[in-house]
Amino acid sequence: MTERLYARITGTGHCLPEKVLTNQDLEAFVDTSDQWIQERTGIRERRVVADGQTTCDLAEGAAKEAMQSAGLGPDDIDLLIVGTTTPDLIFPSTACLLQHRLGLSDGGAFDVNAACSGFVYALSIADQYIRSGSAKNILVVGAETLTRLLDWGDRQTCVLFGDGAGAVVLSADTSPGILSTHIHANGAHADLLKVDVGVSRGFLPNEPRAGIAVSMKGNEVFKVAVNTLGRIVDETLEANNIDRSELDWLIPHQANLRIIKATAKKLQMDMDQVIVTVDRHGNTSAASVPLALHEGITSGRIKRDQLLLLEAFGGGFTWASALLRY
Ligand code: UT7
Repeated sequence: MTERLYARITGTGHCLPEKVLTNQDLEAFVDTSDQWIQERTGIRERRVVADGQTTCDLAEGAAKEAMQSAGLGPDDIDLLIVGTTTPDLIFPSTACLLQHRLGLSDGGAFDVNAACSGFVYALSIADQYIRSGSAKNILVVGAETLTRLLDWGDRQTCVLFGDGAGAVVLSADTSPGILSTHIHANGAHADLLKVDVGVSRGFLPNEPRAGIAVSMKGNEVFKVAVNTLGRIVDETLEANNIDRSELDWLIPHQANLRIIKATAKKLQMDMDQVIVTVDRHGNTSAASVPLALHEGITSGRIKRDQLLLLEAFGGGFTWASALLRY
């Protein structure tokens, strides 16, 4: 009988742009305050890409570090998946650009656009390839330059987002590993969080004064996010017949500290069991979960064999989770 295969995390990496934009910096050009941003979101500062720096540049930094920490070279990677909603180009995909830069072999490479849930969606896809025996080592990246899609005059969005990339290498193993992943979407809420231009619709916004920028009905998104994340953590625990008290760490999407606290409360977890980066990174969309995971591991807090719950929620709406033994 062949043994069951699991996808184990064998390496992680990260990349953040050098430029730090603080809440005080924002106060200088938009009608906001450090106090409002901290109280409503928990964000103190975020990173912003330099002129000419792209999503693929950040992805490359994170991917190289993840491969190095896994002890794997370019020829060892079977498949590359990049979660991003801010690709360098319309096509080729950022994954194809990254594959070339990393000198990977000609295994598959593709992007997943599930907005802020992109990395957990990509992780879910990678898990299926490893479980089925179709791939041995998969590089999964979440990389974004969301600040390229901001209207810096819109205080409802421009204070929230930042740039960055995180990556993991998943390797086939007979011990767990990812225990389960769960992905969902509901396109009925498309209008609550969107960038309202595109290739086939055209690059001219419907509203004459709008630019190519993120628009969000934050308050409505907030309510749906809290409820939906509450449901998916229940679903994940039930699917594995695991009690919330068995969880060691929550690694949540980093959109808002109040949303993170609501999920932790539902799981009856102390905040010292939650990896928080939103204070320093803001919302980095698909990069936020792998950045938090990398930080938790490299700071020595997350230890081998501990039980981790990853979750994300974003535009679409999309939402996703993964339960794994590190
Ligand atoms: O990652 C993808 C998923 N995204 C999310 O999960 C984000 C979910 N939403 C949120 O995190 C929160 O809704 C926000 C942080 C976006 C907004 O917080 P809120 O507590 O829901 O505020 P609000 O939108 O209800 O606005 C409250 C007030 C309004 O003023 P009035 O109408 O009460 O006078 C806003 O105009 O705060 C005002 N406001 C601001 N004031 C200062 C909105 N943005 C700002 C700002 N600075 N940046």
